[in-house]
Formats: sequence, C-alpha cells, structure tokens
Amino acid sequence: MGKNNLLKLPGLIDPHVHLRDPGSTEKEDFFTGTCAAVAGGYTAIIDMPNNPHPITTEEALSEKISLASRKIVCDVGFHFGASPSNYPVYKQIEAKVKGLKLYLDQTTGPLLIEDLEAILNIFQHWPGQKPILVHAEGVKVAMVLALSYLYRKPVHFCHISQKSEIELIKKAKEQGFLVTCEVTPHHLFLTQEDVKNLGGFGIMKPPLPSKRDQEALWENLAVIDLVASDHAPHTLAEKQSPQPPFGVPGLETTLPLLLTAVSEKRLTLERLVELTFLNPSRIFKIQQDPATSTEVDLQESYFIQGSELKTKCRWSPFQDWRVCGRVRRVTLRGQIVFEQGQVLVPPGFGRILY
Ligand code: NCD
Ligand code: ZN
Repeated sequence: MGKNNLLKLPGLIDPHVHLRDPGSTEKEDFFTGTCAAVAGGYTAIIDMPNNPHPITTEEALSEKISLASRKIVCDVGFHFGASPSNYPVYKQIEAKVKGLKLYLDQTTGPLLIEDLEAILNIFQHWPGQKPILVHAEGVKVAMVLALSYLYRKPVHFCHISQKSEIELIKKAKEQGFLVTCEVTPHHLFLTQEDVKNLGGFGIMKPPLPSKRDQEALWENLAVIDLVASDHAPHTLAEKQSPQPPFGVPGLETTLPLLLTAVSEKRLTLERLVELTFLNPSRIFKIQQDPATSTEVDLQESYFIQGSELKTKCRWSPFQDWRVCGRVRRVTLRGQIVFEQGQVLVPPGFGRILY
C-alpha cells in the first residue's frame, strides 16, 4: 500500500483482446481500445487476428503494426492468424508476433479450420517456442493436447469454460504437457441463467457456462494460468438486433471484478497478480519496465456504467454491478498515462511488443 492508501500493482497484461482495427472501427479502434486498456489498469495487451480481412499474411501484419504504432496509448503485441495454407510464411513473421491463433470452433470472422491435414501442417510448421493459441471447445481440447504432445509445441487454451475441459488440462499439466490456459471474467462471474436478462449482451463464444461448469472453474483456479478479458466489442445496435454477434467488452471491468472477488475472499491478491501480470508476462515474454504501475483505490466502490467506459461500444454485460477498486493512476515507463479518468498521453505513445 503506497501513499494516499492506493494499492500499487504492476501494469497489467491482457494477452487476448480484439481491437477491431482495421476493418471494424465502428466497434473499436487502436486508440479507443488502448484508452480502455489503460482505464482498466492494463499497460500491455495482445491483439487477435480475426479482422474482416484476417491477419494471415505478412502484408496484413505489417499494415496492422504500422497503423497501430500511430494510434496506441499503451503497449500492444499481435497474434498471427492460422489459415489452412499460410504455414510457409510462419518463419518470416514469427519474430513480429507473440503467438499463432488457431480457431477450431466457430466465432466472429472467417478463420475457422476443421481440416485435419491443414491442422497438422500448422502444428508441424509453427517454428520455435511461442505458443499456439487455440479456440477449442469440448472434445477439441483433447485433440489439441494430442497434437501438442506429438509435435512438442506449446499450446495456450483461450477462454476455457467447461468442467471437463479444465479437468483434462489439469491431467495434461500433471503429465508435463506444454500447456497453459486462460479463463475470462464473464465465464467466472456470469452463467447461462444471466442470458435471460442480458439478451444479446450475454451472447459470446464460448457461451456462458452452467453453474456447475462455473464452479469447476473456481475450484480449479490453481490450474488456470491467467485471466484474459477476451475484450470483443460490438456496437449497441448489433447487440440489440435479432441475431447479435458473439462477444463482450471486458478491458475496463476485469480488474474491478477480480478486486471485488479478493474483497469477498474468493481469491487472494497475490493470485490476482499472478493471473493478470506474472503468468501472462512469462508465457508471452513481456518484460515490464520497472517504472510501470497501476494504482487502485480499494476503498472506492461504484456501479459499472457502460456510458462511462472508454471503449467505443460503451456498454457492458456487467452494467449496474457494484464493484470495489477504482483505477486511479497508470504509469508506463515513468510517464503517467491515465489519471482521474483521463488519458494523458497522445496516440502513438505506446510501443509495439515483439
Ligand atoms: C470474439 C470476437 O468477437 O472477435 N468473440 C467472442 O465471442 N469471444 C471472437 C473470439 O474470441 O473467438
Ligand atoms: Zn477472442
């Protein structure tokens, strides 16, 4: 605890966000998305490749990096998208990305891969030891574990949401598999019961869990390496339409929800720091400058209001939830980037993470 009763944390790291730039900037862009990140206590995030023109080529990646470098207010790294045939380019792009994202289940964008030969090519050709991040649900978790073992490649499971999945990952970890996994705050704090009230705002991939699955996530918190927001904004109009797209924003609500869980003794503060900083830093090799921190006021409790958020979509599935812990100040490389609700640095202050 520092001066003024503020709790000093490291700058948090979120390795799974969708900033929608380029191609869907009506939902979010690199400036608004990184403003949301610092407002939520994050100083480093990693952007996903499922843009409308997906980031599956060297050119698309270079364009995204140069676009981002002019707009970001915190540090941003990138995951490359696996396509059925882009494995020949992996060697060239590997140094510029934090991981390879492989979609084995349907989600926003055209990146789903179901052909086994294509999947084997991906595992065979991904070089080095950066993780292959997988969107794999249910039985596909078992398939990915087999591939990770057979090809000796580290895999990181995105947004684990079922009891059987986390139990299988636990077994694999006990056997020394190269496996890590994440869980999202919406799978920890909302269940399928909430969809009735939330309507489109409760629709995401994977879907909200049953109470039983959610309890298994909390019981196996020791198996989970990190909490990622899976920040996936869509416009209010889209989410209120008859066929709402999948995804919810999360960059500004994850830390207060976790701090509230700490205050309720569901989690220790030490574990919170492992889940939001130490483990993502280790898995995705992000070194933090020592003059980087997030200071929070644990005394302040407030109600989450979509209209007060920095994300362009300005709604939250946690609307009106009472949380405790307000982000007061965020410092990156000695520079105050966020204080008293305001972003204080110009677009381009953030750096690209390689
Ligand atoms: C994500 C999106 O909208 O980009 N949606 C989601 O429901 N999680 C895609 C994803 O994370 O797979
Ligand atoms: Zn995602």
